[in-house]
Amino acid sequence: MKVKIGSSTLELVQGDITQQDTEAIVNAANRTLLGGGGVDGAIHRAAGPDLLAECRTIGSCDTGDAVITKGYRLKARYVIHTVGPIYHRSGLRAERLLKSAYQRSLEVALANGIRSVAFPSISTGAYGYPLSKAAPLAIRTVANFLEEHPEIELVRFVLFGPKALRAFEEALERLYPSEKV
Ligand code: APR
Repeated sequence: MKVKIGSSTLELVQGDITQQDTEAIVNAANRTLLGGGGVDGAIHRAAGPDLLAECRTIGSCDTGDAVITKGYRLKARYVIHTVGPIYHRSGLRAERLLKSAYQRSLEVALANGIRSVAFPSISTGAYGYPLSKAAPLAIRTVANFLEEHPEIELVRFVLFGPKALRAFEEALERLYPSEKV
């Protein structure tokens, strides 16, 4: 499913983020940047050991912030590592922190002249953020950013399964009811 936002495209696909050929892919990391399971584990496995070595030089990343490394063996030239909120620990801050994770990732992409970015569904796995709340927030945050920044030509959400894809499709259809292309 794709929607045009100004001259930019917001796209939803089901797949594996490590296989994406966008200039950057976003990693759902943790604050240590030392790798983990889920998306984090898959990206580190696909990028190879040099990714962890570069992450060690950065040291850490606050929840809601984002940092950039090279992509090494990945098709993507860059990995933008962001840390989403742990839902049951974040209380009222959860929404603001998840929004910030998407926003800061796009700001880092913009600052590095990156024009195409692939996102996973941040925080909706191990970090327990309900898809029904995370998907509309992710779509709204990215759509608002694209309305302001046509320099980012493509944002692709890469959803790992049909449940996540459906949640994002419903959120996108609600935001852009008739624009489906
Ligand atoms: N491609 C795309 N999406 C994926 C992939 C993949 N290869 N693998 C998992 N996912 C999906 C999950 O199904 C989930 O919908 O990414 C979403 C985020 O799940 P997690 O990877 O568990 O990320 P998150 O919930 O943000 O938890 C982060 O988990 O892996 C650790 O080190 C990481 O501590 C951090 C925490």
